[in-house]
Amino acid sequence: MSTLSPLQKARYQYQPKLPAVLTGDIKNISISLGQPTESVADQIQMRDLFPLTYGAPIARFTEGENKDVSRPRKIGVILSGGQAPGGHNVIAGIYDALKKANADSVLYGFRGGPSGIIDDDVMEITDEIMDSYRNTGGFDIIGSGRTKLETEEQFEKSLATCKKHGIDGVVIIGGDDSNTNGAILAEWFKKKNSGITVVGCPKTIDGDLKNDYIETSFGFDTATKTYSELIGNIEKDANSAKKYWHFIKLMGRSASHIALECALQTQPNICIISEEVKEKNMSLDDVVNQITDVVKARADKGLNFGVILIPEGLIEFIPEVGALIAELNDLLAREAEYFSTLKNIEDMREWINHELSKDSSYVFSSLPKSIQMQLLDDRDPHGNVQVSRIETEKLLIELVHDKLERMKLKGEYKGKFSALNHFFGYEGRCAFPSNFDADYCYGLGFSAFLLLSAGLTGYISNLADLHKDAAEWLPGGVPLTMMMNMEQRHGERKPVIRKALVELDKAPFKEFAANRDKWAVENAYTFPGAIQYYGPSEVCDQPTKTLKLEKE
Ligand code: FBP
Repeated sequence: MSTLSPLQKARYQYQPKLPAVLTGDIKNISISLGQPTESVADQIQMRDLFPLTYGAPIARFTEGENKDVSRPRKIGVILSGGQAPGGHNVIAGIYDALKKANADSVLYGFRGGPSGIIDDDVMEITDEIMDSYRNTGGFDIIGSGRTKLETEEQFEKSLATCKKHGIDGVVIIGGDDSNTNGAILAEWFKKKNSGITVVGCPKTIDGDLKNDYIETSFGFDTATKTYSELIGNIEKDANSAKKYWHFIKLMGRSASHIALECALQTQPNICIISEEVKEKNMSLDDVVNQITDVVKARADKGLNFGVILIPEGLIEFIPEVGALIAELNDLLAREAEYFSTLKNIEDMREWINHELSKDSSYVFSSLPKSIQMQLLDDRDPHGNVQVSRIETEKLLIELVHDKLERMKLKGEYKGKFSALNHFFGYEGRCAFPSNFDADYCYGLGFSAFLLLSAGLTGYISNLADLHKDAAEWLPGGVPLTMMMNMEQRHGERKPVIRKALVELDKAPFKEFAANRDKWAVENAYTFPGAIQYYGPSEVCDQPTKTLKLEKE
């Protein structure tokens, strides 16, 4: 057993704040159902694909008698995908609600992610286990994994696992892909008359599982606050030493929500937003020019230092590199066997260059060797390149340096450019959840139990009005099919939850765009400091700037 830090001991005692309606006797929380719903697009196909769960109404919890809630139940929970602060509190919310309703009910954890339900790797969560994970970061209570739960065989095995343990409800805590698979599993369980219901919870630090109903995914708050503390510290250092340009890559597999939120919190000199790069059809050269313009403008004022934020997904949003990556993904999936026989980099490059289109071959050849190798690295379970492994920050340093050298020769630039690279990702995914995430997650778990106990299936647990005090949050559930549409995935049209990218016409980006020119040349840095768990509410309980700007 590891030694407990004072903060860990203190956090065990933290009682997450619940929306007022969930605080009373659980037998006095009833559910009110609204009108039938439609999917965001492709309604006809969606209705055909989900004949039994499509069109369900939005659910809200209200005060009122709920006799059925105390029937004994067995529920299983899965943590799916990348870690996000607050996952343990979702489980604590389910656990406490379940035990409040009936002390004989049982919560099982499927170990190691979705593979746990497929392979019958199950553990019972007890008081003792639960109490040693409350309000802590990480997913280590049951572990997580990236197995995709999607085939008939996997569904059959999952059904067998649930039947063996008498499990009548499954909670899938995951991002857009895991919740999409949750919707498909819910439909499949219903078709089999299994009596097993499925409810999801919106998880991902990337912040891209959101829409009109899901205001944010959990973990985004804590992760962005953790990164912003580190960025603020680096800004202080840069402004003290006045000698380095810090290139900081931030996690966020595709959307730039993390980079944008951190920019709003720390006011760096430059923040690249991938969605804007794509919208403006910017080439890699354009991105490099955007950076060198600011480096030069600051050098002209004697400021040979600065901070630049780079979203990890950027590389795929630069149209010519995006096209190259898409070709590589297809090629490596198609020719995996042959590719595995190529033993050295020279052979790989020669073969790749021969197979790629002329444009992509040109782009590939123009990249440094190290980046070429990273682009050929193993794919994730969805067949995509793993952007967290591509050192875009180093690539940009190299290209900016080369451009400045050329400018120097022409007498256009007289400054000094010394750059350092950083990557913040894993540092924030298992932090102690902020009070916001601790409260939000507990409420999500509590609501997930209430949805299951009402017999609802194919829903995602949600809380609305998150910019208000926790007591005023509105708990309930939204049918997953409502957030889905048809998209092209690996050559096929598939039903998926629509991913939320940064929208350039929405308040968070507009706020950034209105200020970035000023932040570029001034030292307007802000220093958010470490997440505070105890103290005044205006310091400890604030949601992200993104959420506030979107809601106000
Ligand atoms: P999820 O979408 O599963 O929540 O994970 C997000 C993320 O943290 C990305 O930001 C990052 O690109 C990726 O996971 C890294 O994956 P891994 O943990 O497998 O290295």
